[in-house]
Amino acid sequence: MPELNLDFVRSLYPAKCWDWAFFENAGGSYVPESVITRVTDYMRQTQVQPGASYEASAKAAQRIALGQRLMAELIGADSDEVIIGPSTTTNIFVLSKAFAEFLDPGDEVIVTNLDHEANIGAWRRLEQHGIKLKEWPVDPETERLQPETLDDLLSDKTRLVCFSHCSNILGGINDAKAITRKVHDAGALVCVDGVAYAPHRAIDVKELDVDFYVLSLYKLFGPHVSLLYAKRQHLERLPAQNHYFLDDQIPLKLNPGGPNHEFTAALVGIADYFDALAAHHLSQPPNTFKARADAMFEIMSAHEDKLAARFNDFLASKTAVRLFGPGGARTPTFSFIVDGKASSEIATELEKSKIAIGCGRFYANRLVDALGVNNPEDGVLRVSMAHYNTMDEVERLITALDGVL
Ligand SMILES: Cc1ncc(COP(=O)(O)O)c(C=O)c1O
Repeated sequence: MPELNLDFVRSLYPAKCWDWAFFENAGGSYVPESVITRVTDYMRQTQVQPGASYEASAKAAQRIALGQRLMAELIGADSDEVIIGPSTTTNIFVLSKAFAEFLDPGDEVIVTNLDHEANIGAWRRLEQHGIKLKEWPVDPETERLQPETLDDLLSDKTRLVCFSHCSNILGGINDAKAITRKVHDAGALVCVDGVAYAPHRAIDVKELDVDFYVLSLYKLFGPHVSLLYAKRQHLERLPAQNHYFLDDQIPLKLNPGGPNHEFTAALVGIADYFDALAAHHLSQPPNTFKARADAMFEIMSAHEDKLAARFNDFLASKTAVRLFGPGGARTPTFSFIVDGKASSEIATELEKSKIAIGCGRFYANRLVDALGVNNPEDGVLRVSMAHYNTMDEVERLITALDGVL
């Protein structure tokens, strides 16, 4: 497998990105020029209401449809099974409204305390409709979701289990396919939060057999919009949440307000980016966009693993550091606290060396509380890497952090 050519990768982004060593990628990734160009092209050339027959309008509609189609292809879905909404929080919120009408009082829904609140809070509100909520808690020893614990929670009343493919704090990867199989065997559906997973690994929703899958495209090198995948059979059955005359329109029936035009059109720029990477790294790039992106994810994650191993070794060598998260399969996201020092103080100290890391609870408040962080308000420090980070940047981070410690 070829090594990732970091000079080439970084040449595809605005040069200013590299002024800082940026390790807050789980908050939102950088955006390559290809995406920026697609936004401005859309707004310069097709700034009209899409869908009419005059030239600019027809072209606008084509651009939006292409963005949606390519993102669907990226995760192995059909175009009409994918909703592009303003955010994952909003997409799940709308989905939960549909479930509020679809489920009956006494039905059960399971949520975790490990997820970002986006995949917890909206579901918990179903209690107002007589639906029973159960919590699948993170295991305090392993800092994982234990499948055996789920066995005890599943019942013949369970209708939906909501969990994440990867925690935005712990970095640990859950076996979404095995969990989904278990839930399906119990006769229920799954809603999987793939936001923290999607920037690091290829996804195939059909392979995973998930019912609903969400990811935020602004963490996947795109503009600030998000994707909700739903199996077509569910889209057909779920009560519509849009204008009454759109009830039959899949997937628009679950996308009130419709997609953001210029940002959905700009999603083509994510495909342009992967295609440029594939053309550079692969001697014979595969024929489909999905295959090219999947091949690039292998090369990108191999590079990420090297950065992660180096940083993990450094943290492990520091007795004052408490690193959270399970061993085993993980993304390059590390959360930790330091004995005797406020997390916010450390983050601010690193900024003096133009190093950006995260600090706080990252909307996974229930998880931070469950981990027993001494000062939950101060939260954890989070170093989250992306494929475009270099080993030099990791060394800079280690040197600066070592100084602060
Ligand atoms: C794992 C995870 N899920 C959901 C969200 C919410 O995404 P959005 O900002 O698109 O609502 C985030 C955002 O940080 C996240 O990290």
